[in-house]
Amino acid sequence: MEKVHFTEEKATMLATLYGRALDNRTTDPVLGDQAADDAVARIDYDFGKLGMSPDLAMAVVLRAKPMDAWAAEFLHAHPDAVVVHLGCGMDSRVFRLDPPPTVTWFDVDYPEVIALRQKIYPVREGYHQIGSNVTDFGWLDEVPADRPTLVVAEGLTMYLTEEGGHELVRRLVDRFPSGEMILDLYSRLGVRLQKLNPIVRKAGATLHWGVDDPCELEALGLTLVRALDVATAYPDSDMHRVSAGTRLQIRIARMIPALRKMGHIARYRF
Ligand SMILES: C[S@@+](CC[C@H](N)C(=O)[O-])C[C@H]1O[C@@H](n2cnc3c(N)ncnc32)[C@H](O)[C@@H]1O
Repeated sequence: MEKVHFTEEKATMLATLYGRALDNRTTDPVLGDQAADDAVARIDYDFGKLGMSPDLAMAVVLRAKPMDAWAAEFLHAHPDAVVVHLGCGMDSRVFRLDPPPTVTWFDVDYPEVIALRQKIYPVREGYHQIGSNVTDFGWLDEVPADRPTLVVAEGLTMYLTEEGGHELVRRLVDRFPSGEMILDLYSRLGVRLQKLNPIVRKAGATLHWGVDDPCELEALGLTLVRALDVATAYPDSDMHRVSAGTRLQIRIARMIPALRKMGHIARYRF
């Protein structure tokens, strides 16, 4: 068992890991992330104190599911791709997608987070981990820049400052010849209401960067391909997975544009 102590934004990645493990324990999981479940079993931590509920676990896996699907499409089209997975936390996306060894994959997060990953997850061919603040841009030199590149950042952008987030996107677009970027975004209202998010509150994390319309990032050199909002990220076919109370909240959010647009999952090309 690995004993861990994380605070603020680094603690949130234990909550999302636990959410994927809870989903895996249901009879009909969305992601079926056995590696997440195994990782939780190996980490000596009181996961119960993170505020993760079955409904929040659904929010976690329903966010991950389209991101996995879009990433899989990119890797299918570009089996020689470079993947840059930013703010990876303890996410086992590389194991879920299981790309061929011709794909070069980089998981990037703070050094303490990467140190824990290295104790928990096995090595694999073509797979690398970089311990760095994503906005200390020296890490970019470690990533080859001669192939189609997929950037994935799930649950990261809102923790960056707007200035840091803009510079990160600009530097990624400048460095890599072509590719796609898959991000999730909170609106400015979502950032203002951050204390209503139990995961953020219990971790003591602070959200900074809000983006109301995913098109805003086109000014940084991206072209929006697709975006899901609160309504489309919770398709009717998955509504039976959440409690009646959460279903009602989602139905209300679907009718009120500011709530419906409080979060986006966006796919861009560059
Ligand atoms: C909500 S967690 C999401 C983790 C993972 N993507 C997931 O979905 O489980 C946020 C992650 O972003 C990382 N993070 C936040 N700001 C960062 C920064 N400036 N540099 C590197 N990692 C950062 C945190 O350490 C944490 O692992």
